[in-house]
Amino acid sequence: SVTTEKFKVKDIALADWGRKEIELAEAEMPGLMALREEYGKDKPLAGARIAGCLHMTIQTAVLIETLVELGADVTWSSCNIFSTQDHAAAAIAKSGVPVYAWKGMNDEEFDWCIEQTLFAFEDGKPLNMILDDGGDLTNMVLDRYPELVKDIRGLSEETTTGVHRLYERMKNGTLPMPAINVNDSVTKSKFDNKYGCKESLVDAIRRATDVMLAGKVAVVAGYGDVGKGSAASLRGAGVRVIVTEIDPICALQAAMDGYEVKKMSDSVSRADIVVTATGNKDIIRGEHFEKMKDKAIVCNIGHFDNEIDMAWLKKNHGNTHVEIKPQVDLYNVNGNDIIVLAEGRLVNLGCATGHPSFVMSNSFTNQTLAQLELWQNHEKYDNAVYMLPKHLDEKVAALHLAKIGVELDTLSKDQADYIGVEAEGPFKPEYYRY
Ligand code: NAI
Repeated sequence: SVTTEKFKVKDIALADWGRKEIELAEAEMPGLMALREEYGKDKPLAGARIAGCLHMTIQTAVLIETLVELGADVTWSSCNIFSTQDHAAAAIAKSGVPVYAWKGMNDEEFDWCIEQTLFAFEDGKPLNMILDDGGDLTNMVLDRYPELVKDIRGLSEETTTGVHRLYERMKNGTLPMPAINVNDSVTKSKFDNKYGCKESLVDAIRRATDVMLAGKVAVVAGYGDVGKGSAASLRGAGVRVIVTEIDPICALQAAMDGYEVKKMSDSVSRADIVVTATGNKDIIRGEHFEKMKDKAIVCNIGHFDNEIDMAWLKKNHGNTHVEIKPQVDLYNVNGNDIIVLAEGRLVNLGCATGHPSFVMSNSFTNQTLAQLELWQNHEKYDNAVYMLPKHLDEKVAALHLAKIGVELDTLSKDQADYIGVEAEGPFKPEYYRY
């Protein structure tokens, strides 16, 4: 069902507080502010009707207002039922952007919110651009509204899990428009996924539980970008961290970064804290819950809640469930209390406020450049998944240096020739891995 309401948020009275925090965040998001400066006058996104589905936080508000400043009409929903910051949503609603998002919605409301954003544009026409995080908006358009596809110039995707879905579609021949994989810009996955989680994982566990972290034992499943940041986050708090992996390269990296690397089945009984960061499913199952210590804390920082078998927990031990507070639940398994955060959904956005602004500025500068590229040059692209060129990746990084006092050396012509690059970049070949 599609509504005529121009927005749906928890409480529009929170808008002034949201506005104050948005203004603070702007000072930490130099990449987005530089794009406003560079393109704000020319309005290169004029005519674009961008439907966005991405955690409706303060940082995302700065992204939305950047797209608007560049000339786009924008509608918004959140890509997780717990990740909205209600004051951010209120401020965005008050600014006139149709936003459908509140913290703690149910699954039906989640779908309803995404659906609204397809049609809520000012001129009454449906979307012609997609900005997605995890692929739920993309799937809704492609599977349920295929008639809208012909007018959509392209989509940009924020996260690892959504990008997997796009490559799968490309392989199966079911990707009907060009897509830009924002996640794999170096200035996205090697920063947001890693340094972002390094800040936001421990933030979430502390806000949810207030537990003393120093001295505890944690198991982190997965040592990709998110796992690396998550393990570092816990180590920084004095936690002794065990990593589990299935990939020998990532396992070796974890070991040489100084972590124990063990099987989940053997290490879960030692854990005070269990964190899944794989983007895979069925990582924590019944047999693992049954081995956990009393008061073990269990959470997921991957995109979807299928990393932890919540269905098993609810089916077999749902009768012991006690809500401590929203997004903090207790279950008892064979005499041991288990504390589950954010119902197994991504914990840093469910129990805290996601990553800090500075790192999200890197991600969202990539997002904005991807939207600009697809809007202006869509006819240059096939129905395939692309990445932004390296010179733009380097530009995103460059825009974030001054804020933290970084000064770059420059290459002489002679030096540039010697290492086979241009003095102004790109500074690395495509195959370089950072
Ligand atoms: P990645 O692909 O770099 O890392 C995942 C790692 O998990 C890989 O090294 C893989 O070998 C490992 N893995 C897979 N199955 C496993 C298993 N059964 N046991 C142990 N390890 C296993 O992916 P990335 O970028 O780290 O993303 C992980 C998830 O986090 C994705 O769902 C992504 O969308 C999400 N994400 C969440 C963020 C947040 O703020 N909460 C931020 C960025 C990404």
